[in-house]
Amino acid sequence: MSVSQSTRSLNLTIIGTGFVGVVSAAVYAHFGNQVYGLDIDKHKIDLLKDSQIPFFEPGLAELLQKTQKTGRLKFTTNYQKAISQADVILIAVGTPSAPSGNADLKYVLAASVSLAPYLKQDAIVVVKSTVPPGTLAKVAEAIKTKTKRHFYLASLPEFLKEGTAVADTLKPDRIVIGATDPFVFQVLEALHQPFGAPIVKISPESAQMAKYAANNFLATRITFANQLADLCEKNGADIDEVIKAIGYDQRIGAHYWYPGFGYGGSCFPKDVKELAAYSRTVGEADNLFNKIDALNETRIAKLLDHYEKLIGGFEHKKVAVLGLSFKPNTNDMRVAPSTKVIPLLIEKGAEVVGYDPKASWLEFGLPQLDNFQQLKTIEAALENVDVIFVLIEWPEIVQFDYGKIRQKNKPQWLIDARNQLDIQQVQKWGFNYLAIGKSVKVPSYERAKSK
Ligand SMILES: NC(=O)c1ccc[n+]([C@@H]2O[C@H](COP(=O)([O-])OP(=O)(O)OC[C@H]3O[C@@H](n4cnc5c(N)ncnc54)[C@H](O)[C@@H]3O)[C@@H](O)[C@H]2O)c1
Repeated sequence: MSVSQSTRSLNLTIIGTGFVGVVSAAVYAHFGNQVYGLDIDKHKIDLLKDSQIPFFEPGLAELLQKTQKTGRLKFTTNYQKAISQADVILIAVGTPSAPSGNADLKYVLAASVSLAPYLKQDAIVVVKSTVPPGTLAKVAEAIKTKTKRHFYLASLPEFLKEGTAVADTLKPDRIVIGATDPFVFQVLEALHQPFGAPIVKISPESAQMAKYAANNFLATRITFANQLADLCEKNGADIDEVIKAIGYDQRIGAHYWYPGFGYGGSCFPKDVKELAAYSRTVGEADNLFNKIDALNETRIAKLLDHYEKLIGGFEHKKVAVLGLSFKPNTNDMRVAPSTKVIPLLIEKGAEVVGYDPKASWLEFGLPQLDNFQQLKTIEAALENVDVIFVLIEWPEIVQFDYGKIRQKNKPQWLIDARNQLDIQQVQKWGFNYLAIGKSVKVPSYERAKSK
């Protein structure tokens, strides 16, 4: 690839057509590049060839269909076909946490070995997966076991959010390019010009740290809000009022405050664990990230013990858990609060039903549990219920008229895990309302009756 070519559209290959890979492939093709999406999962590739997405993400199916029609986006399982013409290869495979907490690089290194024999002279291999500093040296070593050709390396961390991934990728807040060679900066900067976002050109180590820093900061904000919320419940304050008051401070801001059941999903829990583990490996064992992780790990059990006392036990109660995905607008259940809440409620003796507009417990591969079933409609899940957990703020769940299912002859509890409902309205319907960081008084007669 010559420098002049570097300013035109490129042949790109994205290795790993998971969440990040599919969205990136569609968006790079949308901006005029010739793109291959490459995966070892044949079933996934067959679906994608047919414009079917193996997960739910708003707007992605339309973008995929549109770009596939142009002929600029193809999917394959064949490394030779996908790599031999590629100017830039982006590795976007998973990097789960190993039992030690460190990022498990086995998929990144396996992809590096597989691509190496077909690599074009001077191709750029870009690591898009979230990885710790030091990874590019390992990738170089893996590639060099299979080729003598010259290649470049770079780091291009991904910051998209599930649920708004298409919009985030088409119009990102920034593009972070971690590289050392001016040629690599030039090619990757030209590739990202159409995105119209600020481009931050830094070292690979800074780019990798920036990704961990962003997710760890957001996870810290959530944990900070949760810690404050617990104190508010003890002293009569209301966490939402506290957030409103501090949010006017320009240094703090009113955005991204989510007191609740803790952070979940495929990224925050893993990225906090990975930064904590990385800190330990470089001799910084006494670190903030360990504490954030520990607080988040114990949060749901702590809250359920708290609610158990307030409502007089879960035993023999019918509990509806509304919202099984880890956040709205996705069917991703990786580290979703529901995956902890439901087994704990069963352990406490409840009969649990679940509802989600898109996520499916069994299709996601979660185990069948005694005393738990997922129902197809919110109304069915709420039939004759004693306790409702509004766990995830899907619009359908937040906007539901709970007054319709209120049974006046028995106490019913509504636990608002995201502080999304109007307290006065819920109380007017006649529910006992519990939320996060609000010192709602629970009448003692209700506690007695619900036993
Ligand atoms: N999901 C997110 O919201 C998000 C956001 C930002 C960054 N990230 C990071 O991006 C990376 C990918 O995340 P994801 O959620 O897309 O993962 P994913 O698990 O959804 O997808 C990974 C894909 O890689 C494929 N794969 C594994 N080994 C392969 C190999 N040797 N060759 C070809 N394909 C292979 C798998 O079959 C799978 O389809 C991770 O490092 C993650 O931390 C994810």
